[in-house]
Amino acid sequence: MIIVIDGPAGSGKSSTAKEIANRLNIHFLDSGALYRALTYYWIVSGKPDIRSFIKLLPEVDISSEYRDKQFYVALNGEDITNTIRTQHVAENVSEIASKPQIRAYVNNYMRNLVLNDIYIADGRDLGTAVFPDADLKFFMTASIEERAKRRLKEMTLSDLSITLKDVEENIRQRDLKDQSRASDPLKKADDAIEIDTTGKTFDEQINQMITIIENQTKLN
Ligand code: DC
Repeated sequence: MIIVIDGPAGSGKSSTAKEIANRLNIHFLDSGALYRALTYYWIVSGKPDIRSFIKLLPEVDISSEYRDKQFYVALNGEDITNTIRTQHVAENVSEIASKPQIRAYVNNYMRNLVLNDIYIADGRDLGTAVFPDADLKFFMTASIEERAKRRLKEMTLSDLSITLKDVEENIRQRDLKDQSRASDPLKKADDAIEIDTTGKTFDEQINQMITIIENQTKLN
């Protein structure tokens, strides 16, 4: 069973999906972290041109696990959970995520992962391209200012030099790229339930979504 939450950067998808996973005791899957992991791999491979990079994909071993309220990602056995949250990765991830072969790799990984358990996953195109038959689909939104503030808080844990202006600009550019890319752009699925979190407390939005999950799925 799979519940998906799509939405733009910083709309609160990850923290929301994690909290719902904790409360309902199901697994959490962070699809953005997988794109970030491949972007990190591209950086440490010396930023090769994309055709050469795609040839490296069969050699890469990505693994992930949700444990102790954290989504861990490892690349060839190395834990890169924190490294993938830096500005350097954020600046390059949209470009890497725009490549159809990269998307196919990540989609394949996710579809296999969710086969045997109950997951809540967050991303951009999960309800449209990856899991069109998901049991339940949410689409979360919030104003750019609110999203940048949230993202800054998360980033200063790993990168102290970053300012709110930098993050707003990065989010604006990523929104544009994510919405306009040819391959599986960020888009609300027709059957997704829209949740606007601007001005809502975290608890209010979680309770609203859990009520929907309990009413519309067999999870309760
Ligand atoms: O959720 P995030 O900000 O960690 O995601 C990082 C990037 O990955 C984001 O800029 C867009 C991309 N992404 C995507 O293209 N499709 C997804 N399903 C999830 C993320």
